[in-house]
Amino acid sequence: MRVLKAAVVGAGAMGGGIAQVVTSSGLPVLLKDIDPRQLDAARTHIEGIYQRQVHRSKMTAGEMREKLDLIEYTLSYEGFDKVDLVIEAVPEDVEIKKRVLVRLDEVCRLDAIFATNTSALSIAEMGMASRRPHRMIGMHFFNPAHVMKLVEVIPGPETDRDTVDTVQQFARTLGKIPIVVRECPGFLVNRLLMPYLNEAVNCLQEGAATAAEMDAAMGPAGFGWPMGPFALMDMLGLDVCHHIVEYLASQYGERMQEAVLLKALFDAGRYGEKNAMGFYDYPGGERSAEVDVLIQSLRDQRLVTKTGLAFSADRLLACLLNEAFRCVEEGIADVDDVDLACIAGLGMQVRKDADLAPMGPLEYADEVGLDVVLHRLKCLEAEFGRRFKPAAILECKVRAGDLGEKSRRGFKEYTT
Ligand code: 3HC
Repeated sequence: MRVLKAAVVGAGAMGGGIAQVVTSSGLPVLLKDIDPRQLDAARTHIEGIYQRQVHRSKMTAGEMREKLDLIEYTLSYEGFDKVDLVIEAVPEDVEIKKRVLVRLDEVCRLDAIFATNTSALSIAEMGMASRRPHRMIGMHFFNPAHVMKLVEVIPGPETDRDTVDTVQQFARTLGKIPIVVRECPGFLVNRLLMPYLNEAVNCLQEGAATAAEMDAAMGPAGFGWPMGPFALMDMLGLDVCHHIVEYLASQYGERMQEAVLLKALFDAGRYGEKNAMGFYDYPGGERSAEVDVLIQSLRDQRLVTKTGLAFSADRLLACLLNEAFRCVEEGIADVDDVDLACIAGLGMQVRKDADLAPMGPLEYADEVGLDVVLHRLKCLEAEFGRRFKPAAILECKVRAGDLGEKSRRGFKEYTT
């Protein structure tokens, strides 16, 4: 099937951003919400993106008007019988999502595809609720949706081939890079990213370094990522991060246990940039006295311990690398796709020299040496516990002498 008309349900930051991406490829889109203020905010967000393109002379005002005319903002399901594909982008609550899917089933054509932009929830469960599991699929965009190139495509157990092919083709039409991921909690990228972010919060609550110091260490002038972990969490929303990490902990257990401070910030109503209070205070991204007080209070209650250990980038990366190894072991994605997903979805860049091609986690592990990565994980496991237990595949590779680039055998393929 070819998608000629789409709809997006849920006009939050992601839903609005996705609708803009659809129109930028020249396709019409219905953008539906239940709250007119949400639709107004999405309109402002979308017009802002196009206005900036006009200012940069990337399009004319007339072209902008044509793109904006492709969006129909709506509070009803009128017109949904004409769409080929619906992207559901309502809040990350599986019961809300299921209710929306039941309603969509009543108003959409029988062959229409239901794609969910869920960050982590079960496609299989939503497929059952949709009453068309063969047309249900995950289509996970990354924030900011109009910038990040990756779209994770996640078939459920009953998704048919045509749905997978159509969604991949549709993602390419939108100028995105689709990567098919086998379903698991958190899919691929959030499964790697969230333990990394959560570990940064563990470091903060232990007093290993300040948020600004860690952001500087991991960001463009440090390790080379486009943003440090705390700036990124504030951009994504601490409510979003909390819900994902809480869900991952429920699915993977101890190794994804949520940092106490992340939950405490969520409970304190600090949601990040969206309400001007996160790890930092906004505008300006200043150090927050309230966060300092909260950390001290968690220490006073003995919910967290100040360890006095110094911060190391390796500690954060170890969580991400170890999960990347497990994803390869479980066949969630192949080696090249794991690397490409991190580059296209997170802007992962571990070389400070911008002229060099970006490198994903598995290539990075190969370059560092798999024996070195294994040794680091074992040291971290001895210091912090089982969440750093090395993935079995890493131990096997090192035992077999596959040490990465230096032995020309590792996760990546080497020709000589
Ligand atoms: N919030 C929203 N949009 C932002 C932003 C922020 N904090 N910071 C920048 N942007 C937007 C800008 O408005 C700009 O949009 P425009 O092209 O329409 O003008 C665009 O990003 C580029 O901004 P800049 O010119 O300032 O460029 P930078 O070089 O600083 O890049 C960035 C900004 C693209 C956000 C870059 O820092 C980056 O790639 N960061 C990593 C983002 C990332 O990892 N995203 C994935 C997160 S995981 C996820 O989304 C999954 C979900 O399920 C949780």
